[in-house]
Amino acid sequence: MATIIGGLAASHVPAIGGAIAKGLQKDPYWAPFFDGFDAPCRWLDANKPDAAVVIYNDHGLAFFLDKMPTFAVGAAPDYRNDDEGWGIPVRDPFRGDTALSWHIIETLVGAEFDPVTCQEMLVDHAYSLPMELFFRGRAHAIPTVPVVVNTVQHPLPSLRRCFKLGQAIGRAIESYPEDLKVVVIGTGGLSHQLEGERAGFINTAFDRRCMDAMTGDIDSLLDIDPHQLVELAGSQGVEVMNWVAMRGALLGDVHELHRNYHLPISNTASGIMLLENRPRLARAA
Ligand code: DHB
Ligand code: FE
Repeated sequence: MATIIGGLAASHVPAIGGAIAKGLQKDPYWAPFFDGFDAPCRWLDANKPDAAVVIYNDHGLAFFLDKMPTFAVGAAPDYRNDDEGWGIPVRDPFRGDTALSWHIIETLVGAEFDPVTCQEMLVDHAYSLPMELFFRGRAHAIPTVPVVVNTVQHPLPSLRRCFKLGQAIGRAIESYPEDLKVVVIGTGGLSHQLEGERAGFINTAFDRRCMDAMTGDIDSLLDIDPHQLVELAGSQGVEVMNWVAMRGALLGDVHELHRNYHLPISNTASGIMLLENRPRLARAA
């Protein structure tokens, strides 16, 4: 049976792609951000996951406002990146795991989630940058299942719905018959807003609350409705929905091994987390 060994979260600002291309990892502006990946990368090197489920939001590359799935799951053998208009390099294709994809899709539909199934799907910076940040040289070799959540066009799914989606993904992975070690990645956030009167908005207190809730009282986040979430996190900070879905997939005992919080990266409060998912010990009767 497959096991979920951990959850990872990271922000996904396009400018990171430019910094990687220019080799600016040790630049004073970028070092506090890139250094935050050393501990998760060491953990990934030591624990060697066989596959990654990547929960993120598309920003107009694969889906546009005319057709916007609330949830979509990739089921392709590979996933191409393409020019998103940010001027960052187009990445080599990433690998899919179609068997794991279809198992997750079947389990989700059986659990009354009805995702769009994508046998071809472009992946944008919200998928490609966290993959490269966490897996470095192996990013294009590790088999993945991309899961897309609509954080862009209202009505957005609620945080509780995203958490339940994550739980269903977790149950799907744990019922997969292959002996795989799987990590689940949630990308985006933390607080940021790119447009309007509140452009540049950041809410450090709410970001800390979200990070603490990953191992604390996750339920305390789940009743925040999407409009309240825009107020608290900013109109793009709602991407923390992907973190909540990732956290939902961790069905064991969840331990925080690492966090990094730094701002700003471009307009965004950057958060990085590594959560270990330990098997639940059988409780005495
Ligand atoms: C920025 C942040 C994002 O989440 C994104 O998708 C695009 C841009 C930014 O802060 O520049
Ligand atoms: Fe984004």
